Amino acid sequence: MQRRRGGEAAVWLALLLIVAGLQGADPFADWLAGRELFRKEFSEAEGAGAPTPLLRLSDGRPALAMGRAFSCALCHNTPFGDAGAGATIARGGPRIGRSTPHLFGAGAMEQTAQAISNALLGIADRDRDGLITAADAPFAEAVVQDIRFGSFVDADGDGWPDLDPAVSIVCVDAVGGRVPGARGTADPRVAGWWPAVAAFGWGEVPASRSLDPTALRPFIAGAFAQHAGLQADDGAVSQPEPSKDPAVIRSATSASLHGASTWQQSASAGPLGARASPLGARLLPGTIAIDPGGRRAADGRSLDDPDGDGVLSELRRDDLDRIERYLLDHPEPPTALPPPPIFTKIGCAGCHRPDWSFAQPDRRAIRWTWTDSSAIAAPRLPGPLIVTGMYTDFCSHDLGEQLWIHQADGTVIRRFRTPPLWGVASTGPWLHDGRALDLDAAIRGHGAAAAGYSELDPAKRREILDFLAQLRLQRVGDQPQRLGDQPQRLGDQPQRVGNQQR
Ligand code: HEC
Ligand code: HEC
Repeated sequence: MQRRRGGEAAVWLALLLIVAGLQGADPFADWLAGRELFRKEFSEAEGAGAPTPLLRLSDGRPALAMGRAFSCALCHNTPFGDAGAGATIARGGPRIGRSTPHLFGAGAMEQTAQAISNALLGIADRDRDGLITAADAPFAEAVVQDIRFGSFVDADGDGWPDLDPAVSIVCVDAVGGRVPGARGTADPRVAGWWPAVAAFGWGEVPASRSLDPTALRPFIAGAFAQHAGLQADDGAVSQPEPSKDPAVIRSATSASLHGASTWQQSASAGPLGARASPLGARLLPGTIAIDPGGRRAADGRSLDDPDGDGVLSELRRDDLDRIERYLLDHPEPPTALPPPPIFTKIGCAGCHRPDWSFAQPDRRAIRWTWTDSSAIAAPRLPGPLIVTGMYTDFCSHDLGEQLWIHQADGTVIRRFRTPPLWGVASTGPWLHDGRALDLDAAIRGHGAAAAGYSELDPAKRREILDFLAQLRLQRVGDQPQRLGDQPQRLGDQPQRVGNQQR
């Protein structure tokens, strides 16, 4: 009897291990591994190095300090060691700056943008087939919770619905594949489209037809390609470089699907071929070309690598999974006291909308509770999505000529996404090009949109500045989270171990 019990226990243990293995083992281990990849300095031998000739030395080698490439943490490093904010970098030339935002609360940003996208789809997709088509007209207003995201109608006749540029218009064909270079929603190849609200970026490049700013995964893959010359080999964001030999492509594509992945074909995604991020954002294969790996040199290096360094699979699918896990579970900045009434009175809250809430049932993110030395994971409970103290409307705005970017090709960028203000006190210099060296200058930089601020008496201005000054980041290791509230609130006041206040 004893022995049979022992045998049963062994079977149960084995089953448990199998199930745990199938579920991707330990999410906290993945989170830590993601953090290491975020901080890792990739070497030239690992495929790092920009493909652009501008960034190569005269002998053709990539220009890397000490033969190593930049890590994500090179820029995102305030607070040091976390996915923080950072320096202002050059943007397409030495004279224009681009400020590095922090990535705290990135999962909540993606999730809120996704909830708004779903609400927009729900307004226009009258036949509920998951796509917007001409048959769904006439369209109602593109307004979600009093925020206007432009219009579903193409009044200016450019072929595209006049939605806010922070909303991507994603065109798909009859089998749900992305239509490359669609000329508008009436393009004969386009079976329908869906809106995807940008969650990331200053919005300098309008989200318009790209999915990159709408979810972490494509943004991460894009950042690795841009900043480190590392191409992610992942069906959700990249596609094999076309090769003349179809057999080469077929074998390379199946070979590239290695690694454990949290990726799932989304049941709710609608169009075939669409994948969903762990938070439910719909994704389509992007434009990062990966190496089919058909022709190799004697030392194994690829001879037809699109980025020319010969290294295959520079980032694997499971690498992306881990960095994504790390960033989507990067804690939200601690919440502060609510803004003073003057913040709403002079119009700040109209764009920097404090809170968002949705009765959204499906939440797959995990949140951590921190003690001094360890973290305990608890899945977020199904329930409404309530995000407090984020301070953005997810729209873009033209705040006036003083902020426009005049590009080398003569085009002018006029609109920028409203940045979330959580964490803003820790992230200077401010505004998209880092021109504002203090928060007062950041507000005055708004021009007419913040005229009410300049006209306030100094004591009232101080109220706003004091409010902004408490929107600070906190190092992750020092930031335990409260678990188990009903409903769970993103951005809840963190509870310090041993803190008597709560
Ligand atoms: C050379 C500096 C630099 C490096 C290195 C860098 N970033 Fe960034 N990051 C930026 C800047 C600047 C932005 C603002 C983007 C824009 O212009 O819209 C940004 C934005 C982001 C955002 C969107 C944040 C938001 O709220 O808008 C994510 C996510 C991100 N980076 C992830 C990464 C990852 C992952 C890596 C490592 C592969 C990385 N970054 C490496 C400078 C950098
Ligand atoms: C019409 C919409 C709008 C209004 C109203 C508005 N903002 Fe902004 N705010 C923005 C946009 C857009 C940006 C980014 C502009 C840029 O970087 O070029 C921004 C940027 C900021 C920043 C800098 C954030 C960063 O990370 O660099 C602060 C601080 C700020 N706003 C505070 C305020 C305050 C305080 C008020 C009220 C006096 C206000 N804003 C009113 C849209 C608005």
